[in-house]
Amino acid sequence: MVGDAGMKASKSAATRLRWQVPLAASVLVLVILVMPSVAGRGGVPQPVAFNHVKHTKDLGLGCEFCHVYVRIGKHAGLPNAETCAMCHRVAQGSSEEALRVTQLIDQGASLQFNKLFRLPPHVYYTHRRHAGIGELECSNCHGAIAETDRPPTRPLVQITMSFCLDCHREQGQSVDCNACHR
Ligand code: HEC
Ligand code: HEC
Ligand code: HEC
Ligand code: HEC
Ligand code: HEC
Repeated sequence: MVGDAGMKASKSAATRLRWQVPLAASVLVLVILVMPSVAGRGGVPQPVAFNHVKHTKDLGLGCEFCHVYVRIGKHAGLPNAETCAMCHRVAQGSSEEALRVTQLIDQGASLQFNKLFRLPPHVYYTHRRHAGIGELECSNCHGAIAETDRPPTRPLVQITMSFCLDCHREQGQSVDCNACHR
């Protein structure tokens, strides 16, 4: 025999269920809707839609013009507003983004570009050894970034340990753990 208390309990369980099912369903729908936009936002943002191919191929600037330490330092370095101002202090071309660069420079913006390729701190790597002494092409490790017309939000090449090791084996270079993990 089901008592009053039992009736109440199963009724409120049913009420709970009536709310929980649609609630769970709408949470699920929300998660599905939000997920791709969260994933999309995961990339590296930049202050200006820089255009490599226009500056490298069309204008003929060398990589060192903006990445000044690439043959002599550990890090290649990224340009700042001072470098861009050499030309963009006055308006260049007619695209909206180029005009915005001149406005940003006028306003004293620092134009801090964000690093895209990044190794964990336990790895020792220098550009001097590879792009300087070794004279390797940038595209070996960076893919076709010089031909991009907007900043990539993700590295064009996934630089993993086996990526480094494959080339080192091919070119008879060190595969000693201590060479890269000091
Ligand atoms: C052997 C592979 C390799 C070659 C060749 C190479 N790079 Fe890199 N580059 C890297 C790696 C790895 C990083 C990330 C370094 C880090 O986070 O410490 C990087 C980072 C960079 C950065 C970000 C700033 C910095 O230095 O961390 C720039 C800019 C850059 N490289 C430009 C160049 C240019 C220009 C060339 C050619 C002249 C070049 N690289 C050649 C592997 C390479
Ligand atoms: C040596 C001169 C020079 C330097 C240095 C230079 N630019 Fe430019 N830039 C130009 C010229 C010229 C154009 C216009 C080219 C055209 O429209 O055909 C241009 C165009 C652009 C555009 C528009 C690209 C497009 O898609 O239409 C952007 C954005 C831009 N530059 C950003 C920068 C930034 C950011 C820097 C610094 C990191 C920089 N430039 C450094 C000369 C330069
Ligand atoms: C006029 C300036 C300029 C020149 C010339 C230039 N770059 Fe860059 N480079 C930039 C800017 C600005 C960024 C950051 C925005 C972007 O990725 O487009 C960048 C980013 C990069 C990165 C990613 C760095 C990181 O943060 O990990 C690589 C790799 C790179 N450039 C390679 C090259 C190579 C190779 C050349 C020569 C063929 C070159 N660049 C010439 C301005 C320049
Ligand atoms: C495309 C080929 C290539 C790739 C990719 C490459 N290297 Fe190298 N690496 C070389 C060459 C060539 C040398 C020797 C350069 C010279 O001295 O002439 C070298 C030398 C070195 C040295 C000096 C080794 C010693 O004997 O002391 C270190 C450290 C190093 N690389 C680390 C790395 C790391 C870390 C990576 C990955 C992020 C990497 N390399 C990716 C070609 C490569
Ligand atoms: C030519 C350079 C190079 C050599 C030689 C090398 N490593 Fe690495 N190692 C790397 C790089 C680059 C990473 C970072 C990979 C990443 O972020 O995906 C790494 C990452 C690691 C990690 C962290 C886990 C991982 O996979 O990201 C361990 C552990 C490691 N290495 C151990 C070793 C050992 C042990 C040796 C010797 C047998 C060795 N490495 C030799 C370049 C090297």
